[in-house]
Amino acid sequence: MSRKIKPIPEAELKKYYEYAAKYLLKPWHTRPEKEPIIVGGKGARFYDAAGKEYLDFLSQLFNVNLGMGNEKVIEAVKEQVEKVNYTKNTYLNIPKILLAKRLAELTAPNLVRTFFSNSGTEANEAAFKIARVYTGRFKIIGLWNAYHGSTYASMSAGGVAANRSPFEPLVPGFYHIPPPYCYRCAFGLEYPGCGVRCARFLEDAIKFHGPETVAAFIADPGVVAAGVLIPSKEYWPTIREICDKYDVLLILDEVIAGCGRTGRLFAHEHWGIAPDILTLAKGISNATVPLGATVMNRKIADFFAEKKSFMHGFTYSGHALACAAGLAAINAYVEENIPENAAKVGEYLLDALKGIQDRHRSVGDVRGLGLIEGVEFVKDKETKKPLVAEDPETPLEERPLVALSDGCLDEGLLLMPTMSGSTIRIAPPLIITEEDVDKAMDIFERQITKMEKRFL
Ligand SMILES: Cc1ncc(COP(=O)(O)O)c(C=O)c1O
Repeated sequence: MSRKIKPIPEAELKKYYEYAAKYLLKPWHTRPEKEPIIVGGKGARFYDAAGKEYLDFLSQLFNVNLGMGNEKVIEAVKEQVEKVNYTKNTYLNIPKILLAKRLAELTAPNLVRTFFSNSGTEANEAAFKIARVYTGRFKIIGLWNAYHGSTYASMSAGGVAANRSPFEPLVPGFYHIPPPYCYRCAFGLEYPGCGVRCARFLEDAIKFHGPETVAAFIADPGVVAAGVLIPSKEYWPTIREICDKYDVLLILDEVIAGCGRTGRLFAHEHWGIAPDILTLAKGISNATVPLGATVMNRKIADFFAEKKSFMHGFTYSGHALACAAGLAAINAYVEENIPENAAKVGEYLLDALKGIQDRHRSVGDVRGLGLIEGVEFVKDKETKKPLVAEDPETPLEERPLVALSDGCLDEGLLLMPTMSGSTIRIAPPLIITEEDVDKAMDIFERQITKMEKRFL
């Protein structure tokens, strides 16, 4: 039990759980009795109402990149709230102006102007509208099993069947190609002999749909929803080349992959390419106040400047508190060399995971970049038969990876399985130490052994 948090008496706690079960419609799966009530946190640790301490290997939801309770960000929000916390969306406020300028300075040189919103979903929604208006074309191509948000357009651009199918029909004009998934190549090929067929297939798709109708290609460079798929070094340059050839805009969704997560401030820096539109959210404000950003290239920026309008917006576009948090967080990433720590400790974590892979028959593949890792589980390493049967009727507790992550949580470690597929995703705050990696990996390995005994 933590010394920092005074536990809430059991009777009171029980009442909260009763209220939660009765009054809340929670997002995604509803298991209120399984979810801790969080009352505090600092750095990579957080505390529940019963006083239990947890080690956060998910940055809550891939977003508290600087750790919980970051003082620089909190102070910036406090300072701003004393001045002005909200201005009408078309009015200006100082954090909004300064954050847009800072993003123009820190992102690739071609990215010069930003539209602000409240989330990754909204950042992508704006990107689609920008792409359609700017190009005069309407089709958007994305990747199977990617996730870009949960509104209709972002869900249509994503490809996770489990969260698409209950809401069909979806928005027309969104199409998909297979992701860069070397472990289970959709084309049955092997790198490097494959000639990055998965990237080249974008050209086939553009030709099939008619280049004059395709506005943009969107992808998350970490393809986190599909289980963290880190493509070969040729993938992104090839995609960029194909987009240029057909005047198709490249939208990179760095909602998770940005803000230091992959070991660079922005993921596309790894591959020496720049998107036409970059979407950011989550870590951009260290999750202190919700914030989304859609950063666009000069040609697009000039187009809208000339038109003098972009007929889109939210009441909270450019919220002063969110932008103050964003400015403080982005400056902290740079000043404190946060991406460097993510690169260094990320390598250490990946090594530890490879050790676990060697020792466990259920760990089929381990992959990652910086501090975003995927551990894919199989029934059999030879056949690569997935560990999890794709059966939505299976109760959550009887799914091996839910049991594994529940077991980790019981031991005070937060990480997360993919919504479908057989991968556990690991994404600690970027300030994490090697010592904490050791602690987390001890718990993870112990729970893998337990899971193997029960399910294999
Ligand atoms: C890659 C990616 N894009 C977009 C989103 C949507 O962001 P939000 O939940 O802030 O709307 C997410 C959320 O997890 C994401 O992982």
